[in-house]
Amino acid sequence: MNTLIAGNWKTNLLADSAQALAQAVRDHCNQTNVCVIPPALYAGKVAELLATSDVALGLQDISDQGMGATTGDICAQQAVDVGAKYVLVGHSERRVRQFETSDLVARKALAAASAGLVPIVCVGESLDDREAGRHEQVVGEQLAPVIQALGTVMDCVVAYEPVWAIGTGKTASAEQAQAMHAVIRRMLVDAGKGQTKILYGGSVNAANAAELAACPDVNGALVGGAALTIESFAVIVKAFT
Ligand code: G3P
Repeated sequence: MNTLIAGNWKTNLLADSAQALAQAVRDHCNQTNVCVIPPALYAGKVAELLATSDVALGLQDISDQGMGATTGDICAQQAVDVGAKYVLVGHSERRVRQFETSDLVARKALAAASAGLVPIVCVGESLDDREAGRHEQVVGEQLAPVIQALGTVMDCVVAYEPVWAIGTGKTASAEQAQAMHAVIRRMLVDAGKGQTKILYGGSVNAANAAELAACPDVNGALVGGAALTIESFAVIVKAFT
């Protein structure tokens, strides 16, 4: 299946509810194109619950450093050890709150890919950038260092998440999403990475998933709020499958 639907649980849920949601995803969306990304503290337990399923595990962030003296971080080898296949890098909540630069994001993507993980590289413009007509330039500048770091050999997934659409209930229209995905696709093709999946994220829900899924360059979704209930997540998974 050439799509990926990833549920980013962010800092939601506690141990019991995280396990219950993982079980529900396993029971209702048992497919190789589905990934859950729980809070790291619960990743081990979620991995156990998913072990006999096709659903993949992801983590929300990774250190750009290897094992060693980086207090509070999780290194790529540990992510592999816990059973993760994917890891988010460069989510806008980290770019904004943790001041992560695109160069750091590229180093994280390289650390993840070098350890055998698939980095899901998040890019996206702010509302100011879009209103000023800079959105394509901003996204291009975020993606370029990652493409350079990974070269043609190492795989990644790209997630386009316009910051103004995250958690706001205001989704990019299918036209806006497709237009940006086409720009990203051109960059990837030029870099010899044309087969890379490009996910859309930002207020994806059960009602708008089908329209987004119909866009030729939208290969899946990175879902926040609507991934927290199995009812909406299952509808989104179906729309993209
Ligand atoms: O990573 C997913 C995300 O940032 C989108 O969140 O709640 O708008 O679906 P949400």
